Amino acid sequence: SMTILFHNTTFDKIDVWKKTIKKYFKNEKIISIKDYKNFHDVNCAIIWNLPDNILSRLKNLQVIFSMGAGVDHILKLKNYNKKIPIIRIKDEEMGERIANYSLAQILNYQLNFKIFQNSQIKQYWSGERTPIDNKNLTVGILGLGFLGNHIAKLLNKLNYNVIAYKKNRAKVKNVKIYTGKNIISFIKSSDVIISILPSTSQTNNIIDKKFLKNMKKNSCLINIGRGNAIEEKDLLNHLKKNKNFYAYLDVFKDEPLKSSSQFWKLPNVTITPHVAGVTAIEPSVKYMYSKYKKLRKNKNIKSDVNPSDGY
Ligand code: GLV
Repeated sequence: SMTILFHNTTFDKIDVWKKTIKKYFKNEKIISIKDYKNFHDVNCAIIWNLPDNILSRLKNLQVIFSMGAGVDHILKLKNYNKKIPIIRIKDEEMGERIANYSLAQILNYQLNFKIFQNSQIKQYWSGERTPIDNKNLTVGILGLGFLGNHIAKLLNKLNYNVIAYKKNRAKVKNVKIYTGKNIISFIKSSDVIISILPSTSQTNNIIDKKFLKNMKKNSCLINIGRGNAIEEKDLLNHLKKNKNFYAYLDVFKDEPLKSSSQFWKLPNVTITPHVAGVTAIEPSVKYMYSKYKKLRKNKNIKSDVNPSDGY
């Protein structure tokens, strides 16, 4: 049998995670980072935000499972060996969750809920405001991968006008795709921009002063990808200058977001604590186990990470 290292200190329901991993990987030994005496037996790691200086001690590691969609938490580890394949979660339930989150924030924006919430704090009846209709709202998805496609599908079903910006050219039904230099027309055409980009050297601070200046004046930005995509001081300035521009932020450069952050207090900002795409436990562990069985059978497994893309 193999030994599995499990590490995660941030997710909800860690006890359910452990139970579910034990249920599927029932013939394997599951250890934690405290069991360093067994590190040489570890073949498989199921992790989220592993501390540095552990990976290099797992001399027999064959596969790393990311407990989420993102793999940046693994690639940033100082001693990650590029030869070890990484498998990330690609799950329909997570897709549904992230599409729900996106829809909720779009509705929040198009139905003026933030205005009503702010007027409630002042005990002030703000009066009728006309909502924007779905067919008149263009939602731009920045990053159209596995999860971005789930968002596009839900929004299309509800008659929104969906466009997307993607690194590589692609054909997607009912979604107008922009690539390369067309990013400016993508930004200018969107009433709502949803950033669902992975954290890579290419996506660092992509949403900066110039990007924000090209966005429609009374539009909204939803970030559910990674905090690295936003130049935070530029967004703060933009929000202070444009009171009818809204930001719905689920991810930040530094998490947890410090209580001293200026984002907390701005009336045109909504903050959630990295919950847009919570990993669904049962289907994800099942998925990991199916990949693990393949690895045992074939002695190798194709990594989900393309080192030249950085995600
Ligand atoms: C969450 O951010 C994830 O990568 O699943």
